[in-house]
Amino acid sequence: MNQTVVVLDFGGQYSQLIARRIREAKVYCEVLPWKTPLSVIREKKPIGIVLSGGPASVYAEGAPTADPALFSLGIPVLGICYGCQLMVQLLGGWVSPAQTDGAREYGRTLTHYDADSPLAASLPAEAVSWMSHGDFVKILPEGFSVFAVTAHCPAAGFGDPARRLYGLQFHPEVRHTEYGSQILKNFLYEICGAAGDWNMSDYAERAMREIRETAGNGRVLLALSGGVDSSVASVLLSRAVGRRLTCVYVDHGFMRKNETKEIRRYFSALDMDLRMVDARERFLAALAGVTDPEAKRHIIGAEFIKVFNEEAQKLGSTEYLAQGTIYPDVIESGEAGGAVIKSHHNVGGLPEKIGFKGILEPLRILFKDEVRALGRELGVPEEIVSRQPFPGPGLAVRVLGEVTEEKLETVREADAVFREVIASRGLAGQIDQYFAVLTDMRTVGVMGDARTYSRTVALRAVRSEDFMTADFARIPWDALEEASRRITNEVNGVNRVVYDISSKPPATVELE
Ligand code: XMP
Repeated sequence: MNQTVVVLDFGGQYSQLIARRIREAKVYCEVLPWKTPLSVIREKKPIGIVLSGGPASVYAEGAPTADPALFSLGIPVLGICYGCQLMVQLLGGWVSPAQTDGAREYGRTLTHYDADSPLAASLPAEAVSWMSHGDFVKILPEGFSVFAVTAHCPAAGFGDPARRLYGLQFHPEVRHTEYGSQILKNFLYEICGAAGDWNMSDYAERAMREIRETAGNGRVLLALSGGVDSSVASVLLSRAVGRRLTCVYVDHGFMRKNETKEIRRYFSALDMDLRMVDARERFLAALAGVTDPEAKRHIIGAEFIKVFNEEAQKLGSTEYLAQGTIYPDVIESGEAGGAVIKSHHNVGGLPEKIGFKGILEPLRILFKDEVRALGRELGVPEEIVSRQPFPGPGLAVRVLGEVTEEKLETVREADAVFREVIASRGLAGQIDQYFAVLTDMRTVGVMGDARTYSRTVALRAVRSEDFMTADFARIPWDALEEASRRITNEVNGVNRVVYDISSKPPATVELE
């Protein structure tokens, strides 16, 4: 069992980021909803508790709160932003609505530290922190003293070392806060006594052991998409149960150039029961005449379940269904619980009729970057481990409007050119996702003295940490020019290339 830190989530936009930073510091961490009963928190035997930020004001009616007994468990607590205001309020201090004091602070703020506080150990006397708060702490509860101040915030960081309770008005988890990771490490190592026992090779061993214990001699079925999560899950499961694992790869025909071939090459070389189902025709037939994006997604999802069900029936009895669910999915569905494998889980549409004994989700406590680290630990090749995210419905949502074989071919070729250009210029590491889209727009052009009336390809490249928000990537003009020239020359039926300069929000990453 790893040492555990619990993050209580008060609805802040950075709650997951806090957990990631803690895990980066080699300490296992779980995010639980603020309503989680104290008894459940205690069962986790946390070495520390972090109260996240949140959008509310502590004095607002119905504002999220905590059991005051949380502060007398003898477990160190770090309150961040809303979390620190709540701690102050519950322990008898006073939080002032900034409207009355005119002291709201947002963004980069110069902060002065007293390095004698264990939370500020090895910090310089001043550094920039990231503030985002309306209210601020006016009167500290008894026993607390200040160790960080800003021009407008007399209590930006404070603590009661005897009770090991600390508060920060700013966000140490965001990159804009200089020494933010150091502050979190100080909390973990100086205050909570962390040993730093969270690493991927131990995790792999433990997960395999638990898979064996749960699955016994039963057979396991996994839908392999070729994406990072299901690929890493397949290798982990295969190491755990060997040939008792069957992977089903459904080729819906919306994969990128050579992708199915690469998946076949890599996974066929492993000693794994892999079934590749060529369902291209039926997916295309199901989409004939359909232009609405949601209808397209819905049809593809339903067709996938049908095909997967049929394959599962053919296989006969398999006792366990495995899924590549990862932690953000679990947190978002509000059921964060933290077991490595959960045996009962509503799989929303996946083959229920077959009557699986249980569901194996060996990645359900991992963040994406941890899944990649686990993949590397298991020897999964870099080309699979570092794959960019790719939507389940694939290129079908990157052909705007009706999907046809010819349009798929066009977007596949344009996408391959764009990826080549990005790779050859060494830009891949600076962009989190990049791809080509075939728009449903036709425009006039001129090629070889003749008028054309052809299609427009849109290129999209974004930077994003979690894909909840994204910025369009500022890729060099030269790279865009090369991609544009090559696509119009090499891909039939395209006479214009545009670059999408929208961020998310208001746009989304995918166009459909
Ligand atoms: P959006 O377009 O919602 O995309 O901003 C955010 C991220 O999610 C990916 N995406 C999907 N992934 N199934 C998936 O597994 C889907 O249906 C799907 N749709 C979008 C998208 O590529 C981006 O990384």
